[in-house]
Amino acid sequence: MTALAGKTVLITGAASGIGRLMARKIAARGARLVLWDLTAAALEDLRAELAAGGCTVQVYGCDLAQREAIVATAARVLQDCGPVDVLVNNAGIVNGRSLLDSSDDEIERTFRVNTLALFSTTRAFLPAMLARGAGHLVSISSAAGLAAVPRLADYSASKFAVVGFDEALRQELAERGVPIVTTLVCPYYIDTGMFAGVRTRFPRLLPILAADDVAERIVRAIETDRRRLLIPRFVIAALLARALPPRAFDALMRFFGITRSMARFTGRRPR
Ligand SMILES: NC(=O)c1ccc[n+]([C@@H]2O[C@H](COP(=O)([O-])OP(=O)(O)OC[C@H]3O[C@@H](n4cnc5c(N)ncnc54)[C@H](OP(=O)(O)O)[C@@H]3O)[C@@H](O)[C@H]2O)c1
Repeated sequence: MTALAGKTVLITGAASGIGRLMARKIAARGARLVLWDLTAAALEDLRAELAAGGCTVQVYGCDLAQREAIVATAARVLQDCGPVDVLVNNAGIVNGRSLLDSSDDEIERTFRVNTLALFSTTRAFLPAMLARGAGHLVSISSAAGLAAVPRLADYSASKFAVVGFDEALRQELAERGVPIVTTLVCPYYIDTGMFAGVRTRFPRLLPILAADDVAERIVRAIETDRRRLLIPRFVIAALLARALPPRAFDALMRFFGITRSMARFTGRRPR
């Protein structure tokens, strides 16, 4: 059980979407917050709001696509705030274009932000967790990290990598015998605007998720040391379907409308 009161919790990509909502919920539970986003200015209104509510909160601008920036910002955090108890690797980006319509730079940036940044943040904060014998590492992947989707080749591949990252890390930590918990989160589409325009064929089984509900479930998963959170539960079907031969797998994805889900994607409008 990871009680959040009094803990130092770092959330990346906290300026919008579920990062912002998790920050509010975790602040309400009495934690001290360290919030990262592309610029500190984008976090200023949230910092002021949470500080007015009595939360100790520090904000940092850091481009997660730049390893040097992550290393430097993490060093500042360790100096300013001390060790981090809970690291929530939340920031992510999506282009939503087919493989040939994506530029090399877009593809690379997707991997830097969605995948490689997790290696750098975790390598920066894990040593202090190991020294203290406690900590919690949260990786936000996606249902698209369990079953890939047309127009999401880079995004899906970057989120599959997050699943592998969490799995290897979980086992490495178990081998060391340290009680550091990892939580992998794989949600279906959420109404944050990141995936604006997507469609779902069977909304009862696979609804477009409410961001506030997703944020609450992730915070509860942290508090209950849950190892894997699939939202909704039906996302388990993606894991099970992986045992099928590729043609049967593809037919199932077509039936559930997954293969057409990105057809009308528009994505987030620039801030
Ligand atoms: N929305 C969905 O349908 C969905 C479904 C499954 C999984 N997820 C995953 O859930 C996580 C949160 O998604 P969300 O919907 O809350 O997205 P969001 O509203 O777009 O929030 C993502 C945040 O990350 C920040 N960010 C982007 N690139 C960054 C960079 N290079 N350095 C630092 N910060 C950066 C963004 O800042 P700017 O706004 O300034 O770019 C934004 O504040 C992501 O990992 C996403 O892949 C989302």
